[in-house]
Amino acid sequence: MDTNLTRREFLKFLKRLLAVTGLAALTAPIVAYFYPPKLEEEPSEPVYVGKQEEIPLNGSKTVGFGRYPALVVNTPQGFRAYSAVCTHFACLVKWDEERKAFLCPCHDAAFDPVDGHVLHGPTSVPLKSYAVTITNGEIYIGGNQE
Ligand code: FES
Repeated sequence: MDTNLTRREFLKFLKRLLAVTGLAALTAPIVAYFYPPKLEEEPSEPVYVGKQEEIPLNGSKTVGFGRYPALVVNTPQGFRAYSAVCTHFACLVKWDEERKAFLCPCHDAAFDPVDGHVLHGPTSVPLKSYAVTITNGEIYIGGNQE
């Protein structure tokens, strides 16, 4: 068996290799889009939010919390944390500092920052709350501490 490649055979091999590599480079992002990495629904460990002074009174911070974001708000009654997922049809609620409420842009639901209850809107289910732990001025939410 002859193992010597001719120049033409080598260039043909190289062309095929580049075609396969290029095809893989083009299809990898498409495959990743349709099959994203699995995220925990909610983390089992507490999630770090930041330092207390980063969130002023009546201020809020959005943090990643497993598959969905969570909102941490500094109320006069202390820090509170909620899932940002609206309990109506799962739009993401946002903190409105002026109105001091979580507002849903989809169907105008509003939620109270102190206990997450519905202020008005098409749902009667409060926002899901998460435990807040403050250690040495550092805020953590969730985990198996509820
Ligand atoms: S999804 Fe939020 S009010 Fe409908």
